[in-house]
Amino acid sequence: MSSSGTTTARLLPGAPVAEQVLAEVAESVVALRAAGVTPALATVLVGDDDASAGYIRIKQRQAAELGFVSPHVHLAASASQADLHAVLADFNADKAVHGVLVQYPIPGHLDYDRALAELDPDKDVDGMHPVNMGRLALGLPGPLPCTPAGIEALLAFHGVPVAGREVVILGRGATLGRPLAMLLAQKRPTANAAVTVVHTGVPDWARYTRRAEILVAAAGVPGIIQPEHVRPGGVVIGGGVRYEGRRLLPDVDESCAEVAGAITPRVGGVGPTTVAMLFRNAVRAAQRASGLG
Ligand SMILES: NC(=O)c1ccc[n+]([C@@H]2O[C@H](COP(=O)([O-])OP(=O)(O)OC[C@H]3O[C@@H](n4cnc5c(N)ncnc54)[C@H](OP(=O)(O)O)[C@@H]3O)[C@@H](O)[C@H]2O)c1
Repeated sequence: MSSSGTTTARLLPGAPVAEQVLAEVAESVVALRAAGVTPALATVLVGDDDASAGYIRIKQRQAAELGFVSPHVHLAASASQADLHAVLADFNADKAVHGVLVQYPIPGHLDYDRALAELDPDKDVDGMHPVNMGRLALGLPGPLPCTPAGIEALLAFHGVPVAGREVVILGRGATLGRPLAMLLAQKRPTANAAVTVVHTGVPDWARYTRRAEILVAAAGVPGIIQPEHVRPGGVVIGGGVRYEGRRLLPDVDESCAEVAGAITPRVGGVGPTTVAMLFRNAVRAAQRASGLG
């Protein structure tokens, strides 16, 4: 109970989930190195955006801590689409490179999706290449999109049963809602859910979210989920966020904690699990490429 006497939901933080996943990644890296394979996660930065440069530095530091090497290419902001494709072609051809990360966003004159399609799908650590989306749809092995995979891991870690339960996802975007729906509907103990996806084409979407045993906000519309949209005692996962400058504005209003049974914290919920999945994809790519998976 909170000091105001209202019930407050159990928190579902992402940090311990990420810690566990990263510990497994570190163990796999040790095993790969012992077998003579040095896992390599290449990074590509285009332009001089401070925030993007900062994100790349954080990932490189984490990669080094986990035992990866990280060859890095920094292209000028004036780089052409062909310049970017040439970098990706080099990494595709380099057998010592197992995963490639192109920091998003890239300058506005460049097409990120076109560049992504140039990447070897087996080296796509974001799991967003069209071939990997197809593999997900077909249930074939391959890198999984990081945020959806992170949400499945978060639910499993915190002991939230998913199988046989009703999951409602608000949003059908390519990064989150759509791949998450495919993932949680798969036949697996940590998935196997009855999944419903709602969006702007379903104006009365609250009718669905109110009955959700697990509600995932994936809209990117600050405060769109209010207590009246939540089933009392249900689980609420806040995936959607918008940044205004450095301010993070989540889809899920904090007051939902007074209705939900369990809820991700405003900060430190889905985010840390997303980053952990990137490294899981990278180490699995190294395992597959070296036949040690
Ligand atoms: N936490 C993390 O680590 C992380 C990682 C990746 C992404 N994200 C966040 O996840 C969110 C989704 O990303 P995305 O790329 O998948 O999404 P997106 O392409 O921006 O799609 C947003 C979805 O939300 C729906 N939507 C928007 N406003 C709505 C409204 N008023 N009522 C009902 N539905 C509405 C849209 O419906 P229509 O399809 O009908 O337009 C669309 O399906 C973003 O906020 C992104 O920042 C978070």
